[in-house]
Amino acid sequence: MADLLLGQTLAFDGNPMTDGPGVARHDRTGAILIRDGRIADMGDGDTLRQRHPQARVTDYGRALISAGFVDAHAHYPQTAIIASWGKRLIDWLNSYTFPEEMRFSDPAYAADIATRYFDLTLANGTTTVCSYGTIHPESVDAYFTEAQRRGLCAFAGKTCMDRDTAPGGLRDSAQSAYDDSKRLLERWHGQDRLSYVITPRFSPTSTPEQLQALGALWAEHPDCLMQTHLSEQTDEIAWVKSLYPTARDYLDTYESHGLLGHGGLYGHAIHLEPREVDRLREVDASLIHCPTSNTFIGSGLFDMDGLTRAGHRVGLATDTGGGSSFSMLRTMAAAYEVAQLRHRALHPAELWWLATAGSARSLLADHRIGNLAAGMEADIAVIDLASTPAIAQRANRAGDIWEAIFPTIMMGDDRAIRAVWAGGREVTLSGRGPYKNPTL
Ligand code: GUN
Ligand code: ZN
Repeated sequence: MADLLLGQTLAFDGNPMTDGPGVARHDRTGAILIRDGRIADMGDGDTLRQRHPQARVTDYGRALISAGFVDAHAHYPQTAIIASWGKRLIDWLNSYTFPEEMRFSDPAYAADIATRYFDLTLANGTTTVCSYGTIHPESVDAYFTEAQRRGLCAFAGKTCMDRDTAPGGLRDSAQSAYDDSKRLLERWHGQDRLSYVITPRFSPTSTPEQLQALGALWAEHPDCLMQTHLSEQTDEIAWVKSLYPTARDYLDTYESHGLLGHGGLYGHAIHLEPREVDRLREVDASLIHCPTSNTFIGSGLFDMDGLTRAGHRVGLATDTGGGSSFSMLRTMAAAYEVAQLRHRALHPAELWWLATAGSARSLLADHRIGNLAAGMEADIAVIDLASTPAIAQRANRAGDIWEAIFPTIMMGDDRAIRAVWAGGREVTLSGRGPYKNPTL
């Protein structure tokens, strides 16, 4: 049975960051036809109704039918410690993150958090996440098991840390990181809609031997993505310099171990040297902007304008739980605010593209997710553009679609998500209920 969804549709025929907002395609009375997990047809609502009279119709009225959001960098194991107060990166890792990540040695705990995490991301309209696990292979099994059960397109990898800068109990070795990553890759990569991502956490918690081993694994599996962190905070950069005294710069610690290339995802990438900017562009690497994290942990202001002008491939991400939200709407708002502080006003078309097709492109997956077009996998978010009184009264004044969308970008949250479809099936949104804590 095919499903015909009616509403306002928003899709992209190009990249608005380089080609302008005119590449967005908005249809006030649009429709998409979903069959066998894919978008089989798209166009005007009346036309599609006539062309597909047997399809089951869901009429979303004035709501916006968009590709589901794509979160290009998150740490699902940090779900329960999101919004932890008062620390900058290194202290935040030691005080909150590492103790929480130790709990993932228990597969039952990992399974609980994976379930909770996908409840929350789907309730926020996010249909694909590229996540870090913990050092425990079981954390990746839990994530992929849950994503597979829900029919999601999902990316993840085992976080690797073998240096004594990481706490005992949260360390692997160069060899075990290679072996475990390889085993997980062979088990999960390409299963259904799942992709394995080789994941050294960042240079300060890996030995050169571990970076080399993971570089070798990437060379053996060049169809996999590789994700890590780069130049998030100035203290972190100084730390890298002290740990790798012969490296030309932070990026060189990856480059000299086979961890720089196309399909490499570099989270944050804020305080870059000119050589790093040039090399990242030369290899067409992906830079992942995590704006709520960068303000929450006090990291700095990503140079969206300069980097996109220079032709960099940029994705957008929550960086949960360093980021302070599960919502890609909230993340778009933060990206807008960070760019404003650098004197660049990102257009709503650019923000929406970054949260969908742009992030998919950063994951080298824009041929199958992140946009609405015939042949694409049917991951859909249906957005109510009047989800709260504050948003509705502003949207009522809108003169065009961008003015109608922008209040939801700036003030919207999970209440704006009317429906979600993943892999061609409607998702039951269960992440809205409160998680009860008996001690509160
Ligand atoms: N750098 C290394 N690990 C992390 C992490 O978990 N979160 C953030 N924001 N930065 C990191
Ligand atoms: Zn991160």
